[in-house]
Amino acid sequence: MSYQPLKGQTALVTGASSGIGAGVALALAAAGADVVVNYIANPKAAEDIVAKIVAGGTRGLALQADIGDEAQVEAMFDKMIAAWGRCDILVNNAGLQQDAAFTDMTLAQWNRVINTNLTGMFLCSRRAVKEMLRVGPRPDVSAATGKVICMSSVHEIIPWAGHVNYAASKGGVKLFMQSLSQELAPQKIRVNSIGPGAIQTPINRPAWETPEALEKLLELIPYGRIGQPADIGKAAVWLASDDSDYVNGQTIFVCGGMTLYPEFADGG
Ligand code: BGC
Repeated sequence: MSYQPLKGQTALVTGASSGIGAGVALALAAAGADVVVNYIANPKAAEDIVAKIVAGGTRGLALQADIGDEAQVEAMFDKMIAAWGRCDILVNNAGLQQDAAFTDMTLAQWNRVINTNLTGMFLCSRRAVKEMLRVGPRPDVSAATGKVICMSSVHEIIPWAGHVNYAASKGGVKLFMQSLSQELAPQKIRVNSIGPGAIQTPINRPAWETPEALEKLLELIPYGRIGQPADIGKAAVWLASDDSDYVNGQTIFVCGGMTLYPEFADGG
């Protein structure tokens, strides 16, 4: 049996039916956690992830909710608590892009991105933290009373023309995460972010699906490869486990060095 630092803990991962969320859900389960697989539109994909989790020996539960909708978020957590009694780990993963040149960007595109990427994090975190505080410390299981992990992006620090709504949402995630971490640290709830770079998932398919696009993308990645959901899954396990117990309010960039201004590698 592999190293299972999350044994005896329950987790909820938003947007876990595909992409990074699916990778994170499977990694948390492999590390011993029971995992709620939240999805919005594809129950079959969510059930497939649950089947893999169960095959690995922990519990899985697919729960539908649009995380930008308060009533749906509350109903989802009600079901999780009814089934498992608590939520030890929240991974605020669900996110989307609605790209447009700035002067063409509609209010609907702006609102959709902010609502899912930022307001969804607020709604899910608020309920999860209430549940963590209600259950209280369980030192036999984890040094922290609860762990919240926010899926940010390299675009919480790298500006992104043509994606102003998305970059604004991720800049918002940065101070959301840090402020929440500051507020909750005395209650032993740790809040951190992961900042993925280019990870090979449906959200950025045009950036990797042709050899020409991939070659162009790799110019931005000093480490010379595109990332995989499992790369993010490993970081999430570490941030959820006591191995990172003294890590608070940080963004861990998992990006092959995309944040290193690669265009300056040959001088400036
Ligand atoms: C975006 C991807 C992009 C990556 C690197 C992510 O946050 O969702 O579309 O490939 O950042 O630019």
